[in-house]
Amino acid sequence: MSKAEDSMGKGKTGESRDKVVLAYSGGLDTSVAIRWLQERYGLDVIAVAVDVGQPPSNDDVIARALRNGAIKAESVDAREEFVEDFVWPTLKANAEYQNIYPLSTAIARPMIVKALVDVARREGAKFIAHGCTGKGNDQVRFDVGITSLDPSLRIIAPFRECAMTREEEIDYAHENDIEIIVKKESPYSRDENLWGASCECGALEDAWAEPPAGVWIHTADPVKAPDEPRYVEIGFEKGIPVELDGKRMGGVELITELGRIAGEHGIGRIDHVEDRLVGIKSRETYECPAAVTLIKAHRAMESLTLQKDVIEYKRGLEQKFAELVYNGLWFGGLREPISAFIDETQRFVTGTVRVKMYKGCCSVVGRRSEYSLYDMGLATYAEGDAFDHEAAVGFIYCWGLPDRTAARIQKK
Ligand code: ARG
Repeated sequence: MSKAEDSMGKGKTGESRDKVVLAYSGGLDTSVAIRWLQERYGLDVIAVAVDVGQPPSNDDVIARALRNGAIKAESVDAREEFVEDFVWPTLKANAEYQNIYPLSTAIARPMIVKALVDVARREGAKFIAHGCTGKGNDQVRFDVGITSLDPSLRIIAPFRECAMTREEEIDYAHENDIEIIVKKESPYSRDENLWGASCECGALEDAWAEPPAGVWIHTADPVKAPDEPRYVEIGFEKGIPVELDGKRMGGVELITELGRIAGEHGIGRIDHVEDRLVGIKSRETYECPAAVTLIKAHRAMESLTLQKDVIEYKRGLEQKFAELVYNGLWFGGLREPISAFIDETQRFVTGTVRVKMYKGCCSVVGRRSEYSLYDMGLATYAEGDAFDHEAAVGFIYCWGLPDRTAARIQKK
């Protein structure tokens, strides 16, 4: 028995047992966890399934949680909040961990944490449980996130305290009469939400082997993608996408629709060896069709409407933002001030970007904005040139002065 188990509600009966809020997916792990938390930890379980846009399950996971002994079970539709409070700040930061991973899993964790903590407070639960193992980033994001929101809450991670193989879990479920849906065993560990899908384990562990076709489930093989390019217009307001091909829509709908189109054209596949916070390098693949397209489009909007020094200064903050979020510090002291600065930079990031999608590649081919700093009169080489060519001479005299001085005195 672990230290955590020791001091819990064991021995108490009925009403007086302490409560634990379990991050519940309906899968094998968390179904087993319901019983474990009851029997080994002596707690009453409240199962909470948080919807951040993962593919809906076609069985009633809530009813199953109750049949498996949870005293309460609820599902929280967090999709809109996820987009508004987690995805958009991440997009405004053009955030990509190690310049490649749009942080899809990393930003869903704090959203789930927030939903769990809300339920724990409402229900007077002292504990929150999650199904993470002891090897990944997600355990850090859960634990640090929960205690940053409410340091009085205690965390139980049954599979970190006692790892079980899949077979052991299935045996335990059968022995204990736990209702489980044993799906065909997938060789991969997946996590999915509106901003993207992650995949690891199985054949991916060989960093030299090309990902087998079965890894990709949200994007078409670029080789087999349509032979005709698809143009998409994305309208931004203050850094947030609000229109798709001229049609105004909410964030959830826009991301879903754009993800579908980009996915059909094979966009958003990422194959990467990533540095986890716990020190391990791991090979992962991601499918983030909407995120990849939107980050590209958002950058294009910024290049048109932001001043050069703002773009350059912001770039450093973007990197910092991505690291903090990857490392589980969404609710930490630095993330919010960085987001506040970034929000301030987005005042004029309004306009439309035209994107061309073709066989796995998405390129920005047009952009326009009422706040565009691109001045045709200054840029043109043709008639109508408004740039003062003579002014360049004086400017260059000053610009080169320090180096001319150094050359004269020190570099003889
Ligand atoms: N490596 C990614 C991250 O840390 C994805 C983790 C996905 N989790 C999973 N169970 N497959 O954000």
